[in-house]
Amino acid sequence: MTGERTVADRTDGRATTDRRLAGRRILELGGGRDPVPGAVNMDIADVPEVDIIADVTGEWPVEPASFDRIEAHHVLEHVSHDDLPGVFRRASETLRPGGRFHVEVPLAHSRSAKNDPTHRSEWYWRTPSYYAGGDELAYEVDADLEFALERREIRLFLTSGEWFARPPSWLLKQLSLRNPSLIELVKLPYVTGFMEFTMRKRG
Ligand SMILES: C[S@@+](CC[C@H](N)C(=O)[O-])C[C@H]1O[C@@H](n2cnc3c(N)ncnc32)[C@H](O)[C@@H]1O
Repeated sequence: MTGERTVADRTDGRATTDRRLAGRRILELGGGRDPVPGAVNMDIADVPEVDIIADVTGEWPVEPASFDRIEAHHVLEHVSHDDLPGVFRRASETLRPGGRFHVEVPLAHSRSAKNDPTHRSEWYWRTPSYYAGGDELAYEVDADLEFALERREIRLFLTSGEWFARPPSWLLKQLSLRNPSLIELVKLPYVTGFMEFTMRKRG
């Protein structure tokens, strides 16, 4: 909760003009208590590790075209698909041409996604394509068309739990390494799975 504190208490509201944050080239969305070292951490939570207290679905108090890279680890699944086009649009505005937006989200069918009641969006193998320009699916959402999907991969972690879950989760992991999109033909009750993708701003 942000409480009484505002962005201005933590920074001057402009990450790229604030003396303490000036020159940093990575913006992190939702870094929480475990931010990427050296990044400007923008998060809705009022905790000491946060540099800019802001909701990613609202206005971003940063200068346009002021960062080379944006990181978002395990935060976009907390944003609904109604709000995500706006997040991608603001990410594009905030990046310099050629800048990269790197995202990690839990895979929709995996345990890690299903367990958490605060998740607002599900992410499947094809979901990032809707937010990338140039993809045949992108016109269906009001997405930013300046992004190109550069890299995408699935990472599954074997369960540390019950013995009977180990063989199927090992097989699923092998399958995901060989053909990530095929993994969606099976549900993933036994494993924790993440998807990582990087979008590049054109220009
Ligand atoms: C699961 S934690 C991930 C923290 C860190 N990135 C990591 O990987 O360990 C989700 C973070 O996203 C933040 N968050 C959730 N919704 C947000 C929103 N709408 N705007 C900004 N931050 C948000 C939370 O406060 C929290 O710090």
